[in-house]
Amino acid sequence: MIKIAPSILSADFAHLADEIRKVTDAGAEYVHIDVMDGTFVPNITLGSPVVQSLRKVSDAVFDVHLMVEHPETQIESFAKAGANIITFHAEAAKHHHRIVQQIKASGCKAGIALNPGTSLAMVEELLADVDMVLIMTVNPGFGGQKFISSQLEKIHMLYHTIQDMDFDCDIEVDGGINAETSKLVRQAGANILVAGSAVYGAPDAAEAIRAIRG
Ligand code: DX5
Ligand code: ZN
Repeated sequence: MIKIAPSILSADFAHLADEIRKVTDAGAEYVHIDVMDGTFVPNITLGSPVVQSLRKVSDAVFDVHLMVEHPETQIESFAKAGANIITFHAEAAKHHHRIVQQIKASGCKAGIALNPGTSLAMVEELLADVDMVLIMTVNPGFGGQKFISSQLEKIHMLYHTIQDMDFDCDIEVDGGINAETSKLVRQAGANILVAGSAVYGAPDAAEAIRAIRG
C-alpha cells in the first residue's frame, strides 16, 4: 500500500491549519513535518510548539522528520506535542539503537533517515527494530531540489533486505518526488512517498497526489 506524505515545508506557513486540511481532504495519508535546526542543515523551520498547535486542528498522522543535531534531546517534546512518527538522521546521532527505543517508549513509531551520501550499512543492525527507514533523495535542507537517481539502487537493496529477512519496516523517500520520479521509487520498493513542491505547488492537490500515487 502506497502512502503519500505531503511536506508542509512547501506550504504557506501563515495558513498551516488550512494547508494541512487541504492535503488530507485531497487524500494524503500522512502530513510530513520537516524540522530543521540551522546546524544539521542550513535552514531553520519550526519546533514542537507549532506541532502542538497543529495537533489541535488536525487528527492526521504527523510524520515528523527531525533534521537536527542531538535528536535525542527533542523526542519527548515532539511526542508530547502530538507527533505519530518521529524520524531522526543517522548522521546526526551516535546511539541509534537507543534513540529508536526512546522514540518507541514515547509512544511514536520510529524512523531513521539516511542522507544520499550515507551507506545502508548504517541501518542494517536496526532493521528489526525500526518502523521505517527514510532514504533521502536530495540533500536535506530545502524543498524543490532535483531528485538524485543514484539513490534508487539503495532503495532497491533495502527493499530486498527487508523482504529477505521478513522485517516489518516501511521505506519512505523524501526529496524531488513528483509524478515521474514517484514511479521509479515505487518500482524500487518505496511505499511512503514524501512530496513538497509537487503537491503544494500544483493547482490541484488531489490531482497531484493521485499522479504521485500512480
Ligand atoms: C528536504 C525535506 C523534504 C522537502 C521535500 O530537506 O526533508 O521533506 O520538503 O520537498 P520536495 O518534494 O519539494 O523536494
Ligand atoms: Zn522531509
